[in-house]
Amino acid sequence: MRCEPSGREVRVVLDTNLMDAVLQVGLPLGQSCDGVALCGFCRVRVLGGLDNLSLAGAEERKVMAAQHADPEERLACCARINGPVTVTTDYW
Ligand code: FES
Repeated sequence: MRCEPSGREVRVVLDTNLMDAVLQVGLPLGQSCDGVALCGFCRVRVLGGLDNLSLAGAEERKVMAAQHADPEERLACCARINGPVTVTTDYW
């Protein structure tokens, strides 16, 4: 998993969620619901490898629809990594 624009990367085991991966590279990630798909603050934009993330479940889709999120955005607490992926946020 790679974070832009810093270029920080980490190798994680399959099925690790994006939030855990981001925290492993030492970047901040907003959250106020303990990663249960309620707050939407952990939203990230996927720059590459969108197909390498788990499909969004009903709870994630509900939060993203309420926030009018773009299709290439995901909740980091929900999206699980199954291959190379690159993400960013507005505040990195
Ligand atoms: S941490 Fe709240 S939705 Fe992801």
